[in-house]
Parts: sequence; structure tokens; C-alpha cells
Amino acid sequence: MLSDTTRGTAVVTGGAQGLGRTFSEALAANGHAVAILDVVACDETLDAITSSGGLGVSFIGDAADPADVSAFRDFIQEQLPPVRVLVNNAGISPYMPFEDTSINDWHRIMRVNLDSAFLLSQAFLNDLIATGAGRIVNLTSTVVWDMQVRNMTAYVTSKAGIVGFTRALAGELGVHKITVNCIAPGIVLTPDIEERVSKDRLELYRDRQAIKSLARPTDLVSALEFLVSESSGQVTATVLPINGGRVSW
Ligand SMILES: NC(=O)c1ccc[n+]([C@@H]2O[C@H](COP(=O)([O-])OP(=O)(O)OC[C@H]3O[C@@H](n4cnc5c(N)ncnc54)[C@H](O)[C@@H]3O)[C@@H](O)[C@H]2O)c1
Repeated sequence: MLSDTTRGTAVVTGGAQGLGRTFSEALAANGHAVAILDVVACDETLDAITSSGGLGVSFIGDAADPADVSAFRDFIQEQLPPVRVLVNNAGISPYMPFEDTSINDWHRIMRVNLDSAFLLSQAFLNDLIATGAGRIVNLTSTVVWDMQVRNMTAYVTSKAGIVGFTRALAGELGVHKITVNCIAPGIVLTPDIEERVSKDRLELYRDRQAIKSLARPTDLVSALEFLVSESSGQVTATVLPINGGRVSW
């Protein structure tokens, strides 16, 4: 049986793996048609959605490229209900000492992490306005505040930019009843993180948390559902940290 899609379409960038994949599956399970934009194919995510009776489509393209974003919008407008939810999730987080970071590296990180959120939010603005309860959720990171990682100056700068973008945009779009919020994960055990971060380092992060286990992508789903809920219309311009309560002594 196909799940109903009466909650409108949810657009997710970077839904092929990690948090974006989990978010896409959860949104589909909760009555959204899901449209994913990713630079790689999203077959596993779409299989999971359709085998649970949901509706999902994907488009291969760069979320930071205006032409790709425009083609993605045309692609989904032909086949899905209006977009009510936008999750700006796509991001890159390369480890790169500051002295080795070229201006091209810097621009690439800003482009993928910031330009994408700008382009997608503008591309679907009319849909978000028309639904009367538009929801934008942007992915930042608690590294903006707790700074416990080195060699990520460009990444941290881009994620600080996402916080400013979120708060400023919330101020502009509130008149349309659109909310704009951030989810700020700490460390989430995605396949990419497990591959790139040493076991010792992960244990250190875990030990600094109040909750002595690291989050998995499914641990962030309730936060996303809360922020996109039609009944969360007064929750806007916020940053919700999800890091097991980072404490150190
Ligand atoms: N995993 C964590 O511990 C963690 C912590 C804090 C913040 N975040 C943020 O959460 C988001 C998701 O993180 P993740 O760990 O699931 O990442 P990930 O690397 O596992 O997945 C990112 C996805 O984005 C896609 N993508 C990359 N560049 C793209 C582009 N230009 N256009 C479209 N798609 C693109 C990738 O193909 C991939 O499918 C990111 O914004 C990340 O910065 C993650």
C-alpha cells in the first residue's frame, strides 16, 4: 500500500547516505512525498522508501549549481505535490590544516555547504509560501561552538554561516508563516564518520558527552519531525544541538 502524501513534498539534499538517507526515509514514512537531490545515485534510499510503501524520487545533480537546482525543481514539479519541507542537508567536511587550504578548497567548501542552502531555499520559496506552513531545516554543527576538532577551519566557518543564514532568513520569511531552523549534530555515527575518525577519537568524544553513547542517524529523526510538524509554527530561528549533552571536566 502506498503511504499517503498529504503532508506535501519534502526536499532533501544529500539523501544518498548518512543523515540525509535516514531523514528521507523518515519523512516518507510520515506522509511526505520525498524528492532527493544528490551528486550520486540514491538507489538504496529510494528502495527503502518504496519497499515501505512511500513515495520518493531522486535527481542526480549538484545542490550548489544553479542550473542543476533549476532542473531538479522542474523535474519534481511535474510529478509531486507542492514542496512544504526543505532539508538543506548536503555538506562536505574535509579535514584540512589551515596552512594547506587553498582558496579553491575554501570556495569549494563554502559553495557546497552554503550556496546549496541559498539556492534550494530560493528555488522552492514560492511552494513554501503557497503551502502556508513551509518548513526549512538546515544542518549546521556543534563544532561552531565547542571547537573540539582541528583542521576544519573552512568547514566550521561555513557551518557558522548556516546559523546566520537560518536566523536572517527566519526573520524575512516569518511573514509567510515559513519557519527556518537548524539542527546542530555533534558526532553522528554515519558510515563516513566511522571510516574517517579513529576509534580512540570517537571514544574521546563519547566520554565528553553526558549520554555515554554516540548518536546514530535515527537519533536525530525526532528533532526533524518536531521542526517540520505543522504544529511547530512558532518554533523558528532556533538551533537545536543534538550531541548527547557535550560536557567536559
Ligand atoms: N555526521 C556527523 O557527525 C555530522 C556532524 C555535524 C554536522 N553534520 C552535517 O550533517 C549533514 C549530513 O552529514 P553526513 O555525515 O550524513 O554526510 P555524508 O558525507 O555521509 O553524506 C553527505 C551526502 O551529501 C551528498 N553531497 C555532497 N555534496 C553534494 C552536492 N554538492 N550536492 C548534492 N549532494 C551532495 C553526498 O553525496 C552524500 O550523499 C552535513 O551537512 C554535515 O556537515 C554531520
